[in-house]
Amino acid sequence: MSVAPERGQLSEASAPWWRDAVCYEVYVRSFADSDGDGVGDLPGVTSRLPYLHDLGVDAVWLTPFYPSPLRDAGYDVTDHRDVDRRLGTLADFDGLLAAAHRLGLRVIVDVVPNHTSSEHPWFQAALADRAGGPARARYHFRDGRGRGGARPPNNWQSRFGGPAWTRVGDGQWYLHLFDAAQPDLDWQHPDVRADFERTLRWWLDRGVDGFRIDVAHGLCKAAGLPDWRPGAADHPAWDQPEVHEIYRDWHRTLGGYAGDRMAVAEAWVRPPARMARYLRPDELQQAFNFAWLQAPWSATAFRGVIEATYDAVDPAGASPTWVLSNHDVVRTVTRYGDGAVGPARARAALLVMLMLPGSAYLYQGEELGLPQAYVAPGARRDPTWLRGGGVGRDGCRVPVPWAGGEPPYGFSPPGAAEPWLPQPPDWARLTVAAELGEPGSMLSFVRAALAARREHCRRLGSRVALGRSRPGLLVVDRAPGLTCVLNSGSRARPLPRYADPAGLLICSSNAAAVAGGRIPPNTAAWFQAAG
Ligand code: NOJ
Repeated sequence: MSVAPERGQLSEASAPWWRDAVCYEVYVRSFADSDGDGVGDLPGVTSRLPYLHDLGVDAVWLTPFYPSPLRDAGYDVTDHRDVDRRLGTLADFDGLLAAAHRLGLRVIVDVVPNHTSSEHPWFQAALADRAGGPARARYHFRDGRGRGGARPPNNWQSRFGGPAWTRVGDGQWYLHLFDAAQPDLDWQHPDVRADFERTLRWWLDRGVDGFRIDVAHGLCKAAGLPDWRPGAADHPAWDQPEVHEIYRDWHRTLGGYAGDRMAVAEAWVRPPARMARYLRPDELQQAFNFAWLQAPWSATAFRGVIEATYDAVDPAGASPTWVLSNHDVVRTVTRYGDGAVGPARARAALLVMLMLPGSAYLYQGEELGLPQAYVAPGARRDPTWLRGGGVGRDGCRVPVPWAGGEPPYGFSPPGAAEPWLPQPPDWARLTVAAELGEPGSMLSFVRAALAARREHCRRLGSRVALGRSRPGLLVVDRAPGLTCVLNSGSRARPLPRYADPAGLLICSSNAAAVAGGRIPPNTAAWFQAAG
């Protein structure tokens, strides 16, 4: 069955760069610290660009590096058009961009349009203004309910736990779908739209290749901010139809620049058909497809996600975006089971992902097979943990180990301050240097997989077909002549007839077994058809 029969509105030659790009997420504060303050920075990223080039990725997404009081690790911005001094300067940014472009790497920056920091000058002015005053109109200020307005204006909850409203000195409340230090902007206000237009142009003029749009589905709220009715399919705070008008505007802005500038939406919406609305031809170029990341380890579940994804994006003439990991979710190897099983599954899932038409996003450390790190309660920084408990996201944000036998593993120069999040003492075998020297390492595997993708997938176009459904086995055919087989089960299985062991290109684990005609558990492999 072909799940993506004829999507080819774009010939391969005219396809924009992002359509099949592999994009690497750099979580700037945890990538490389050049000045020894224990925090990663822009010059640190620049110094490591050759590593990313050699890894074989096409693009780099930089998480927010703007001035911020860091109540949500930089997703609380006080100035969208500057660089936080702890991370560098605008000149450092320009240097990074130029160095990346020299290496053939594209650069995407994060924009955070749903909210500002509570220390942003606009919010400070709003606090100083009276109820109903013009400075308050850029945010969602409301009177409370009940006697004396003592109850929040509606029943919405913050994504980080607790009510989505905080009361200010004069008794009004303001809306924050995330931390109280991240007040939501009111996108009906013309200043908000104009200011973001300026921000986009500011970075486009500097030469960025695209944007990752934080909380892209949150910008518009249902009129009147009604209560959420428990059980209702849609929530009045999220994924409102009006948001698409904003992205039509942004589409026009991007289209005014040469070089296939793009934007990718972070929109946690379901089902995939809702995601595809962000991908209509006059809207955004990409939207993260989180369905696989949320799926259990199961060939059947993966198959369902792949089918549903193409079914959703094909009618829009769009291409999918695959992602298994980012700075908000538990690291893949841990999610898939930890121990020996987790890394094996993470490799296998990655190999399947890299063969699918569309683009793929990798998160720093995924190529090293980093597990979720234990971070002691006293060292936690993540507001989701501080507000509500739970797992928290610090464990996937621990600084990258580059080399050496103990923290900071080359993340910072000698004599530096402690890394902002502590690194585990047993990561010496997971450093870049250790893994580069080890042919069987995750890093060696990822480099080989990216090289195989470049060599075998790019000219194949956008057709993909899924083989007959068999429990535990996923077979993906990328026409012409490339097949990927995944065994998610617990025992080895004979290879399907058309996966020719003689054509084995790459395998996520035991190549000898695969060459002998069987695919071991928790393994994926690519085969080229004879002839
Ligand atoms: C999504 C970002 O990825 C996450 O890290 C952040 O906490 C929220 N948006 C709020 O900005």
